[in-house]
Amino acid sequence: MRRAGRVSTLRCWLRPVIGSRGADQSAGMLARARARGIAFSLQRTSLQDQPYAARFDAVLTIEAMQHIPPEDWPGVLANLGRAVRPGGLVYLTVQVLGQHHIQRAFESLRVRGLPAVRGELAEEDTPGYHYFPGRDQAAGWFGQQGLAIVDEGFRRGNDWGHHHFLLRPGPAPPAS
Ligand SMILES: C[S@@+](CC[C@H](N)C(=O)[O-])C[C@H]1O[C@@H](n2cnc3c(N)ncnc32)[C@H](O)[C@@H]1O
Repeated sequence: MRRAGRVSTLRCWLRPVIGSRGADQSAGMLARARARGIAFSLQRTSLQDQPYAARFDAVLTIEAMQHIPPEDWPGVLANLGRAVRPGGLVYLTVQVLGQHHIQRAFESLRVRGLPAVRGELAEEDTPGYHYFPGRDQAAGWFGQQGLAIVDEGFRRGNDWGHHHFLLRPGPAPPAS
């Protein structure tokens, strides 16, 4: 399942996205999306604040989950799953980084007395906050939020990579 070739399968699946609605927390990124005409409507909001319920056939979150802190992952996944209609799909990418970068960032944050979680990056030379939970932690959170993995792929870059997940929301998880 986790062969690089699966990524192109997912990309083919993504191509016919028509009538899409876009959201991002950055006004600048929304302006770029508007200029490219990639969505019929664009909204400035965060993944943490998505209010939609059973509204879309599919929800795509591309290259954004690496900016979500660990404590927000369950809520964001719940928001994505809730937004699709029954039978709908969620597609998202999970970026991974070389373990030596993760270890160095973790040590640097802890040395400064910050309550860092392994996988977090908040270095001055890094553009913005990042969190890399790794494939298995992300998959664990999918399961907790009732998101079944329909398909997945992996594309490796230089010292980093992206897992691509196609998820199908199931019945709501029992309240804890
Ligand atoms: C690497 S860029 C990817 C942009 C675009 N999705 C793409 O694939 O070209 C990451 C994007 O995630 C957005 N982002 C980061 N945290 C977010 C959050 N909590 N809610 C919504 N958008 C967020 C940033 O504003 C930025 O536009």
